[in-house]
Amino acid sequence: MPDNTDNLSKLAVSNQKGGVGKTTDAINIGGALNDRGQDVLLWDCDPQGYLTMGVGFDDAYTADEPNQYSAMLSPGSHSLGDLILSHEEFDIVPATIDMFQLEQELVTSMKGREKLSTLMEGLEGYDFVIVDAPPSLGHLTDNALLACQNLIIPAEAEDTSIRAIDILFKQIETLESNFSVDINEEAIVVSNIDYPLDGEQKEMLQWFEQAFGEHVPIFEFRNRAAVKRAFNEGVSIFGHDEECDQEDELRRLATYLIDNKGDLA
Ligand SMILES: Nc1ncnc2c1ncn2[C@@H]1O[C@H](COP(=O)(O)OP(=O)(O)OP(=O)(O)O)[C@@H](O)[C@H]1O
Ligand SMILES: [Mg+2]
Repeated sequence: MPDNTDNLSKLAVSNQKGGVGKTTDAINIGGALNDRGQDVLLWDCDPQGYLTMGVGFDDAYTADEPNQYSAMLSPGSHSLGDLILSHEEFDIVPATIDMFQLEQELVTSMKGREKLSTLMEGLEGYDFVIVDAPPSLGHLTDNALLACQNLIIPAEAEDTSIRAIDILFKQIETLESNFSVDINEEAIVVSNIDYPLDGEQKEMLQWFEQAFGEHVPIFEFRNRAAVKRAFNEGVSIFGHDEECDQEDELRRLATYLIDNKGDLA
């Protein structure tokens, strides 16, 4: 484990569009980084708790305070150690069901968009924190974006992704100007595709390349039953016995993140 926090890189996996692969990508990027010897904390920021339950912490999802809900409302009065659970590949901060109330409560809280940043201040012992953001734009997502300031965007190869990314970028611009921060797009992960591509998918891959290719690397995480089977077993494809041909692409993404760690801290 690293012995200081300078080395901690925080990444939000975010796209307010639903079902684009955020949770699956967060788990598998976490698994790929762990496979490369990195210490990873997955942080479930989505009140739906799919990541939490996906990796087998159903009980934590319904646990009483102290939990992520109470910690987000009063970050200074919680020990991070009380929130963190251990998984064979990474550690987890589980979401809890009472986080469904958080959105409303954060709106009326002082510094309601900066709770997660404050909560993460004492975090140490990890190389990477990966936050799984909810499928909406609101205070919880703003918390994830401001706390991490580095972004991985899962997106489908569909026309509707253009509008979703446009809306996400407008929100990022608003946060950057209101909070004087830089939020950097680190990677696009094209999800829910498989070959042969149809016409719309081909056009969208070209659009991703034109819109981002020069500045932001694009990765393709293809649809595989083995990914679902690993998820159903509560692990990434790296923690699963079964071979999956997507491991190389995820290793490429993990290597990119490790090589660019200096820019992510
Ligand atoms: N590479 C993949 N191979 C197979 N299935 C996948 C893959 N990526 C995502 N899926 C499936 O697509 C669906 C949506 O994925 P996921 O839940 O990760 O998206 P999400 O963006 O987190 O959704 P939400 O917006 O509800 O949080 C799930 O059923 C998941 O199992
Ligand atoms: Mg999700």
